[in-house]
Amino acid sequence: MGKKYANKQVLLKSYVEGNPSEDDFELKMSYTSSHIPHGSNAVFLKNIYLACDPALRFRLSADDLSDNIDLLKSFNLGSVIEGFGVAKVIKSTIPDFEEGNYVWGVVGWEEYSMIENPKVLFTIKYTDVPLSYYVGILGMVGLTAYFGINNMSSVKAGEVVYKSTAAGGVGLLAGQFAKMMNCYVVGSTSTDEKVDLLKNKLGFDDAFNYKKEDLGEALKRVCPNGIDVYFENVGGAMLDEVILHMKSHGRIAVCGMISQYGLKEKYGIQNLFHLITKCIRMEGFSANTNYWKLYPQYLEWAIPLIRDNKIVYFQDIAKGLESAPAAFTGIFHGKNIGKAVVKIVADE
Ligand SMILES: NC(=O)c1ccc[n+]([C@@H]2O[C@H](COP(=O)([O-])OP(=O)(O)OC[C@H]3O[C@@H](n4cnc5c(N)ncnc54)[C@H](OP(=O)(O)O)[C@@H]3O)[C@@H](O)[C@H]2O)c1
Repeated sequence: MGKKYANKQVLLKSYVEGNPSEDDFELKMSYTSSHIPHGSNAVFLKNIYLACDPALRFRLSADDLSDNIDLLKSFNLGSVIEGFGVAKVIKSTIPDFEEGNYVWGVVGWEEYSMIENPKVLFTIKYTDVPLSYYVGILGMVGLTAYFGINNMSSVKAGEVVYKSTAAGGVGLLAGQFAKMMNCYVVGSTSTDEKVDLLKNKLGFDDAFNYKKEDLGEALKRVCPNGIDVYFENVGGAMLDEVILHMKSHGRIAVCGMISQYGLKEKYGIQNLFHLITKCIRMEGFSANTNYWKLYPQYLEWAIPLIRDNKIVYFQDIAKGLESAPAAFTGIFHGKNIGKAVVKIVADE
């Protein structure tokens, strides 16, 4: 029989319009049993870390924009928020997930989760690195940066790569991956502190504060001969301006558009005509569909880089499940430096 666990949870209180606020969430104490009925395939998890991923914003809207992708479907009001996390297996009826092992994948924003027929859950193979890395550099975030640079951008040595949201989880990795390919890498972000970090700790060749400088002037200054690859994470006016600075035969890898997620009326891009005049390739990609098969290859590539200190990685770790709403809403105001993560338990 199962044991009963007191279980703190974060629920969706109200559907979000615009940027999410802490008031859209509610903390609740409930009880969850570890009992797994005979014949069902399930894992009972003690959650340790949660990722604050911008894509969760889609799931907080009343309008479902998921296109039938599970990871983007709107939550029901009053349901527990779900997202990427790291957890320890307490009980399992699935041979791939052994009791006592660590896993990462989609879990609830709660202390304990019972997951039946898990679709996105991986056993953690290497535990000599911080477990929190599996909601960042060694998880979906790292794979996104890797796939965006290696598979979506056709990047070549010597090319100019521009990264928006450069000091965030995907951004700081994509920039460093492009540097490893001997590109000239520039980034933008919202504070001078983060600009300093990009230039002096993360190895970017140049960076600017998009809140302080005119975008067009800044891009002219940092990429005087134009941009070969734009790794897009912002959308709106940023994308519109970047198109004007792209070189002929440039590539735009469309990974995210965080400035647009909360807008009912999206910004209408004016400069798309130049995709024709400059023969620019612009293509979107999504973690939810086309790249999980690359994960084992990515993991084996990234692990030695981390062990040999060949990559700089920053996390912004908030403590306690109750801090999750503030940590998550903070990313929509650029409050995070590096990947925003919530640590649920103190002892792992
Ligand atoms: N396609 C995929 O499969 C996939 C997978 C993962 C992530 N993504 C996308 O990648 C991007 C980064 O994700 P992440 O997890 O690494 O998050 P993150 O960059 O660590 O955090 C989000 C950052 O976005 C910036 N931001 C927030 N609101 C903004 C606005 N209105 N205008 C401009 N910048 C804004 C802030 O940085 P500043 O301080 O620089 O403004 C903030 O720190 C997001 O767009 C996300 O949706 C896509």
